[in-house]
Amino acid sequence: MPSKYIIISIIYAFMPHILCNTTSLSLADCPVGDAIKPCICHKSHITCDEEQEYDLKAIIGSLSDSYGQNQSKHFNRFEFTANTLTELSENLFKDITAAVLWLMGAEQLKSINVNAFHGMDAVVKQFELRNCPVLNTDNIFTIVNKFVMVDTVALKEINLVAIPSGAFARLTRLHTITIYDSRLKTIGDKPFAALNSLQKLELSQTSVASLPKGVLVFSADSNLTLRLTLQKNEWLNNTGLGADSLSQLARPTIIYINHTFKNSRQWKYLAEKAFKPFFAANDGNKVLFLGHSAILCGDVRNKWLNPNFIKRLLWIDFDNKVKQIEC
Ligand SMILES: *[C@@H]1O[C@H](CO)[C@@H](O)[C@H](O)[C@H]1NC(C)=O
Ligand SMILES: *[C@@H]1O[C@H](CO)[C@@H](O)[C@H](O)[C@H]1NC(C)=O
Ligand SMILES: *[C@@H]1O[C@H](CO)[C@@H](O)[C@H](O)[C@H]1NC(C)=O
Ligand SMILES: *[C@@H]1O[C@H](CO)[C@@H](O)[C@H](O)[C@H]1NC(C)=O
Ligand SMILES: *[C@@H]1O[C@H](CO)[C@@H](O)[C@H](O)[C@H]1NC(C)=O
Repeated sequence: MPSKYIIISIIYAFMPHILCNTTSLSLADCPVGDAIKPCICHKSHITCDEEQEYDLKAIIGSLSDSYGQNQSKHFNRFEFTANTLTELSENLFKDITAAVLWLMGAEQLKSINVNAFHGMDAVVKQFELRNCPVLNTDNIFTIVNKFVMVDTVALKEINLVAIPSGAFARLTRLHTITIYDSRLKTIGDKPFAALNSLQKLELSQTSVASLPKGVLVFSADSNLTLRLTLQKNEWLNNTGLGADSLSQLARPTIIYINHTFKNSRQWKYLAEKAFKPFFAANDGNKVLFLGHSAILCGDVRNKWLNPNFIKRLLWIDFDNKVKQIEC
């Protein structure tokens, strides 16, 4: 057996123990009776649904009170849809913690106190906010950056107009970020630069029209492949990609790209100014066209593509297999 394989096996054999340090928190049993009605609890997973109105603060209070002194109040998952909630106040969750926090459909939620999740800073691994159309997102990255153990962050349609410069702090476990926001127009300088473990970054369904040099930048080199997905971005095309906007990622990167429903010509060519430096920056850099959006080989604007670059143009065929584009 090749020694490399053995070494990798050994690393993997030990990894879970290292990574699971925080999950070693024992999970809470579901509360008995109807302490959290109309929310439900199943296998350490609490769900509060919008179908029935509920007072989140009162439910948290009652949940917290239903445990004895030495009993765990740590849940695997806390998922709430909250269409009447207007704010998440300071210390809202009291001593209740959860590894996965999902808040969805908070149509009237205007603000999240920066300490709303106080007590969960070192516990939350997955954080998702979805459909909060009137939320003030000024402090959203301050909140996210408190989750020092977080590995997955999803922000979808939360009225996020801008991703500020340096948005994400050095969250060493963060490997997946999904941002979908049709209100999102601007992205500042180096928002992801400190995230050296990032493996998936999706910026989709935004109103971003340009990705200047300085956005897709990391502060340290890595050999870990980054999968960068850009789809359903109605205003983003070759025109908005700055020279060197894609060549400072400092790691192998696969760009997953797709045209919008309205504009099937959106990515029929790859602009030399942005993509030539991208291919040159790392031999592992590739572009994968999703759906039926592959470039037109015959387009004169693709003439700059040499055989080495063409080899790295991929698409997904009808059997879901990744194939090279034949030009
Ligand atoms: C794991 O937890 C132990 C004690 O609970 C701590 O000493 C150690 O530093 C932690 N390791 C990591 C990698 O977080
Ligand atoms: C809780 O745990 C502590 C230390 O392990 C112990 O001294 C105390 O008696 C326990 N309290 C209850 C109510 O079980
Ligand atoms: C990436 O891999 C190459 C070849 O194995 C190695 O020389 C280099 O140090 C690695 N870089 C990083 C940042 O790990
Ligand atoms: C590229 O985007 C700009 C502005 O977002 C738009 O005006 C232009 O029509 C687009 N071009 C193509 C080929 O999609
Ligand atoms: C690509 O975009 C088209 C048009 O919006 C859509 O129909 C298709 O499902 C997308 N493909 C993938 C794989 O997302």
